[in-house]
Order: sequence, then structure tokens, then C-alpha cells
Amino acid sequence: MKILNFFLVIIFLACNSATRAETGKTEKLRDIVVYRSPTCQCCRKWLEHLKQNNFNVKDMVTDDVQAIKDKYGVSKEMASCHTAIVDGYVIEGHVPANDIVKLLKTKPKIAGISVPGMPSGTPGMEMGGRIDPYDVMSFDKENHYQVFNSYPNPH
Ligand code: CU
Ligand code: CU
Repeated sequence: MKILNFFLVIIFLACNSATRAETGKTEKLRDIVVYRSPTCQCCRKWLEHLKQNNFNVKDMVTDDVQAIKDKYGVSKEMASCHTAIVDGYVIEGHVPANDIVKLLKTKPKIAGISVPGMPSGTPGMEMGGRIDPYDVMSFDKENHYQVFNSYPNPH
């Protein structure tokens, strides 16, 4: 009887560590630093979106977001409210977490990605049922822009 218990414990431990290893793999947190203005409500919502998608968010509140955009080479065409840095890439505006994950997996030779402006329906910009079609753009240091991902209007 004791031996049976012993084996049950071993099996239990083995199963337990196996599941833990697996969740550890999928739940790996990614560090991201976000610069935003203290009054920006949609920025806060975007931070929540990141946290819900396994990002470890460092929230940097600043009164001069333009200085950050200048520092990291975010042009007027690419600009939005907040600017984030992850793995050396610039993330500008309400970029969906999925696109950041795609960027980190594919590691293209670009400076960053952006959702210029603040289209309704992007993560953190939920305005009732209104959803604008929008593109996630990639940009490099010479201000070449390309479509990274498209979100056409679902209606
Ligand atoms: Cu915003
Ligand atoms: Cu923002």
C-alpha cells in the first residue's frame, strides 16, 4: 500500500512539472517600455491590452512625448499617442499585441511598426461599435513605409 502511494506521488509530480513546463513556455513575459502622457486614457487601455497578452509593461509617464518620438525617429506620418520600445524595436500607437509578437518572431530589418493616428476599434480605442479599417505600418530609419498588416473594415 505504501509502495502504491509512493508511485502515485511520483506520477503526480511528473504530470505536474510537465504541465508547468508547458505553461511556462506559452506564458513567457516580454518586456516592453511604454512612454505616454499622464492624461492619456487610451494609452492606459492599450497598456491593459498588452498586459492581457503577456507583456511585462514598464509604464513611463512623460510630459514630452514628442521628445521621445524625436529620439526614436518616429516621423509625423507615423506618429500616434504613445511610443513603446521592445527588443530594440519602436512600437508607435495602438498596435495590436499580435503584431508585436509577429515582429519579435520574424525580426525584420526595420526600425519599428506603427498604427498612425488613432483609428477607432484598435486595441485601447474601442469606441462603442465603431471600427475603422486600418493598417499597421512598418518604418525604417530612412522613413520608408510599408504595410506590415491590414485590418480591413469587418462590416
Ligand atoms: Cu491613443
Ligand atoms: Cu496612447
